[in-house]
Amino acid sequence: MARIGVIGTGYVGLVTAVGMATLGHEVVGMDKDEGKIRKLKGGEPPFYEEGLEDYLKRAMEEGRLRFTLSTEEAVKGARYVFIAVNTPMDDDGSADLSQLLSASRSIARALDGFSILIVRSTAPVGSLDAMVEVMREEGKERGRDYELAYNPEFLREGTGIYDFLNPSRIVVGADTPEVAEEVMSLYEGINSPKLTTSIKNAQIIKYASNAFLAARVSFINEIAAVCEALGGDVWDVAEGIGLDPRIGRHYLRPGPGYSGPCLPKDLMALIRMSEEYGHFPHFLEAIHLRNEAQKRRVVWKVKEALGGVFTGKTVGVLGLTFKPNTDDVRNSISIPILRRMSKQGARVKAYDPMGGENAKAIFGDAVEVYNDPYEALDGVDAVLILTAWEEFAKLDWDRIRERVRRPYIVDSVGIFRRGAPEGWRAWTVGKGDLPSPEVSPESDV
Ligand SMILES: NC(=O)c1ccc[n+]([C@@H]2O[C@H](COP(=O)([O-])OP(=O)(O)OC[C@H]3O[C@@H](n4cnc5c(N)ncnc54)[C@H](O)[C@@H]3O)[C@@H](O)[C@H]2O)c1
Repeated sequence: MARIGVIGTGYVGLVTAVGMATLGHEVVGMDKDEGKIRKLKGGEPPFYEEGLEDYLKRAMEEGRLRFTLSTEEAVKGARYVFIAVNTPMDDDGSADLSQLLSASRSIARALDGFSILIVRSTAPVGSLDAMVEVMREEGKERGRDYELAYNPEFLREGTGIYDFLNPSRIVVGADTPEVAEEVMSLYEGINSPKLTTSIKNAQIIKYASNAFLAARVSFINEIAAVCEALGGDVWDVAEGIGLDPRIGRHYLRPGPGYSGPCLPKDLMALIRMSEEYGHFPHFLEAIHLRNEAQKRRVVWKVKEALGGVFTGKTVGVLGLTFKPNTDDVRNSISIPILRRMSKQGARVKAYDPMGGENAKAIFGDAVEVYNDPYEALDGVDAVLILTAWEEFAKLDWDRIRERVRRPYIVDSVGIFRRGAPEGWRAWTVGKGDLPSPEVSPESDV
């Protein structure tokens, strides 16, 4: 079994560290965030992931996993060093490599033998060349002191550890087959398709996979709008499309648009990367533009439900995370939508089953975040559902109806696709056969 260091213990790094320890390797996870490391040393994940805490505790108790704030401690003696720092979106849409390069510098200084540095962060073509340059500045030569590999992560947030242990595929990119095979051997025991290729191909595989998922979401949102116009029902239509095995059902769920920490930034980075190398990807641009339009469409639907003005109205929002079963609000679709409503004069009250605390830090005073859905919806003029949490359908909608000013739901995720609760009027994404909203705010629905 191998000795592994993991630099960055966020969603991807922590899942990688826990997953590798579960496979039997000896792992040291490192992060520069003291709060995260303090929690992890106590066996507590700093964010919610189904099942992760049990695996984490077990690996720590069995002595195969520990955490540190020191790069030296993680890197020294480690034949393999995974790098899982963030590569967020820069101002121009390209990937910001500052965390990756700063982590590379610290690793270069800490290297005491030969290590294979395995980049797990989503990193654009050309970024590993920049790493080599930083390593050289610190006196470390590729081939002599270290080798590089790229091992993209395809996990879905919320079910990360399950996905690590049951992946759709494992892709390892390296510039020699020996390095690729060696890195792949770390995953022995996992039964899934395994692909070794060049670093560049592995990077493009990661970006193209996320662009494809984004394309499916934009596609079905387009068809949802077509259904609304033609009087169809996108929920039946999506099922009918997805039953074709050549198409499949995944990512064909209409909604307020894709969002979250990966899809938007990876699509934009792929667009910028292509442009930098002289190709202008109009199709990829269209995916992005369709997503922007969907956000505006949802805001417009709320405005329409309020009689055309936000000023003086209160909107109650259910769902702030970018998808259900996570507490992650980073780059969630709720952020631009709620800010837009607030800027146009609406008072915005909101509830999320898990993301409330993270949302408070993001929205500040612009949004009132409640820990109780009934309080969040008390006295509102319209309810906007933005995340498909199952519990929203099970709320006591009779009780809520008695406390709202107008019983109107803008259901952007389709939890009421089979019909609104009794006494409520709803717009459901992709359904063209429901009554159109009342335009007068005073009207009695
Ligand atoms: N979140 C996902 O679902 C997901 C899925 C696949 C790929 N990815 C990619 O994986 C990468 C990481 O994403 P994430 O969501 O885990 O990010 P994250 O922000 O949750 O985690 C990054 C961690 O790296 C730490 N860090 C930053 N610089 C450091 C340094 N120099 N030394 C030590 N630690 C440092 C941060 O403190 C943070 O804890 C990104 O490139 C992302 O695109 C994410």
